[in-house]
Amino acid sequence: MDQTEQNKLKALVGQEAVKYVQDGMIVGLGTGSTVRYMVDALGKRVNEEHLNIVGVTTSTRTTKQAESLGITIKDLDEVDHIDLVIDGADEISDDFQGIKGGGGALLWEKIVADASDKCMWIVDQSKMVHQLGAFPLPVEVIPFGSSHVFAKMEKFGFKPSWRMDGDEQYLTDQKNYIIDLHLGQINDPAKLYEKLIHIVGVVEVGLFLNRVNDVIIGTNNGPVVKHAR
Ligand code: A5P
Repeated sequence: MDQTEQNKLKALVGQEAVKYVQDGMIVGLGTGSTVRYMVDALGKRVNEEHLNIVGVTTSTRTTKQAESLGITIKDLDEVDHIDLVIDGADEISDDFQGIKGGGGALLWEKIVADASDKCMWIVDQSKMVHQLGAFPLPVEVIPFGSSHVFAKMEKFGFKPSWRMDGDEQYLTDQKNYIIDLHLGQINDPAKLYEKLIHIVGVVEVGLFLNRVNDVIIGTNNGPVVKHAR
């Protein structure tokens, strides 16, 4: 699939997803290029239909975009729950487990997902895989002592690389680093998650397990909705 075709499918699922937003909702807004289309479409609905919704974002990037479109944004700590979070994903396996964090926002994305009653992922069809792992698994680590965490991951055979931003280490909104693990395939995501999350210095792992309720997949025949749980 070329970039133009992929962008078309991302726009398609973005526009489809906002149909699930109802007046009065508190909506979690994810991060990434697919979510960008969704936020554009949501801004359009807010302006045209005068929808009274509140957005809770998962990155400073999304906050900026949403506010520029006139969507009311609140901090997660200002709301007691989120009705629905709409976010992208990097890979989704047959059993609806996901890798997220390609855009570096995995920590806030997971916190927002945890506070949400319903979780929806929007992806183009290239993100649907049988097994997770071809996409490098992002792991957010605190900068202090992170070279030791990196060395530990090398020792485990996880083929780590530092996420970079030009010549500098990539910094998340939380001012942490990201280590990407080039695993190839992940046979037991739950076991891997347990191993990684217990390394001191690891803040969060880009494995989103048993979290998503609905997935909207962009295909050449239109959007396909799959109900995961
Ligand atoms: C952001 O950190 C990610 O979790 C994104 O949701 C994910 O990388 C999908 O991004 P794209 O829509 O840009 O592919």
